Amino acid sequence: MQRVFSGIQPSGIPTLGNYLGAIRNWVPMMRDHECIYSVVDLHAITQPFDPKTLARQTREMAAALMACGVTPDKCVLFVQSHVHAHARLAWIFNCVARLGWLNRMTQFKDKAGKDRENVGAGLYVYPNLMAADILVYHATRVPVGEDQKQHLELANDIAQKFNHDFGEDFFPPIEPIIQGVAARVMSLRDGTRKMSKSDPSDQSRINLTDDADTIALKIRRAKTDAEPLPAELSALEGRPEARNLVGILAAITGEEPQQVLRAHEGQGFGTFKGVLTEALVAHLSPIQGEMQRLLNDPAAVDAALRQGADKAAAIAEPIVARAEELVGF
Ligand code: ADP
Ligand code: NA
Repeated sequence: MQRVFSGIQPSGIPTLGNYLGAIRNWVPMMRDHECIYSVVDLHAITQPFDPKTLARQTREMAAALMACGVTPDKCVLFVQSHVHAHARLAWIFNCVARLGWLNRMTQFKDKAGKDRENVGAGLYVYPNLMAADILVYHATRVPVGEDQKQHLELANDIAQKFNHDFGEDFFPPIEPIIQGVAARVMSLRDGTRKMSKSDPSDQSRINLTDDADTIALKIRRAKTDAEPLPAELSALEGRPEARNLVGILAAITGEEPQQVLRAHEGQGFGTFKGVLTEALVAHLSPIQGEMQRLLNDPAAVDAALRQGADKAAAIAEPIVARAEELVGF
């Protein structure tokens, strides 16, 4: 059975984008892979954050995952900082990775923005930590969006250089499981930007915890155009906001976007947004109910995460110990 690693940052409430693009796909993978899923708080402190809310957000993210079906009885679910092997291997990788490799990472350039001299050094070496997250379990499959492909290539470069410098074919090659652009949910305010939990505008996203009225309001206010829905998907080119709403309904109902258009051809957005709201509320409310139930007993969530950390550490400890031995520690 192949081992899968995936992580999600507790940098806010999970969005519909996180759900459709990542969390939802984690569940079927648990059937035929050994899945290791982590709430990656070490990554969350690479960008501005609030210490008072980090622990709460970490627990909320874990509860959201569990409510979506990522249950600790069928996978290893834990908080990254609870397993010290990640940070230990990441330090070694900071010394293996070349500066030139990191300089090519486009996501750093995006996230650092204009004030590049003033971002934390952690943001720069973030891909080295991501490589450690995966390789510390000798995981070979990693579900990622298109935007993370470059980081996985870097992880493979690090693994190869480590193997070359310190002997043995110690780290296995990693193969990405690429989630297509179809799974990409865009901002409700700007169809050219992805929906993100770290977007400053709450109106740009649906949070997994939004109630029915909030969802209705956000969808009603979502940017669209005045044209009715066309019959063909190709006619949505150049209409990114319209394309996004059609894509969201398709993802929720399990249809192809083309089927959604067939069913709603000629409709204006007033009507279509009502249909979309109803589908979203129906789909998300059982998840919200379960998440609330879990968060009513935070001690139980924390205990499950501690057990998950023990399971994760049992796999990671011997691997990081061997890596340290190979380096000469
Ligand atoms: P965010 O930008 O919301 O903070 P992260 O960077 O923490 O998201 O990504 C967590 C996971 O969710 C990743 O697997 C990422 O590919 C996926 N993801 C994030 N935003 C979207 C989106 N808008 N559409 C689809 N998938 C997304
Ligand atoms: Na983010």
